[in-house]
Amino acid sequence: MAILSAQDQKKRAVAEAALAHLPKGGILGVGTGSTVNFLIDLLPSLQLEAAVASSKATEDRLKAIGIEVIDLNHVGSLDAYVDGADEIDRHLHMVKGGGAALTREKIVASVAREFICIVDESKWVTQLGRAFPIPVEVIPMARSSVARKIVALGGDPAYREGVVTDNGNVILDVFNLNILNPIEMETLINNIPGVVTNGIFAQRGANLALIASDQGVRTVK
Ligand code: 5RP
Repeated sequence: MAILSAQDQKKRAVAEAALAHLPKGGILGVGTGSTVNFLIDLLPSLQLEAAVASSKATEDRLKAIGIEVIDLNHVGSLDAYVDGADEIDRHLHMVKGGGAALTREKIVASVAREFICIVDESKWVTQLGRAFPIPVEVIPMARSSVARKIVALGGDPAYREGVVTDNGNVILDVFNLNILNPIEMETLINNIPGVVTNGIFAQRGANLALIASDQGVRTVK
């Protein structure tokens, strides 16, 4: 059995703790990333009817363990969506998209009654966007025009070389934004022509966060 790093042990612990908060049976929205991957391995115990995946990578993992994956267009609403985050604050606003799946994550989360965020303590921050840049998914032809508008907002955009999203777009990672009002900044960036969406999840934040530390898993809502 592989030896897990201290951070991976926390990711596994928070995935285990999430099971008690997820509905049994039914259809679950499933996020993307290494923390969620620990959870996916445990999902058979929930005896789900099916899942809606937030990325091709998650879809492949779910299918590999025999969980049916259905198209979001065939689902009216979801009881719950579970996902990790790159940053989360005390208002349960998040930064997401380190894995470039932000757009599908935001779409699937938007139809869920409850967003459960599972993180290790390294993701808990007092202000979003300081330690982790804000990912922005951009239509390829608008890469430079969007970058200029982001500079005008005070950010430093960096093209994520070699990454194409599941939707065929590119990612700009925006450093040094002073995000005092995450809902406002999410809206401002989304309003730039050519932006598909950005990785600030504040208009629709999490309802519940499970945060793993050396002391155990704590709950914030
Ligand atoms: C992917 C995401 C992930 O949820 C985020 O990057 C956290 O990933 P990890 O659990 O691997 O730290 O937003 O687009």
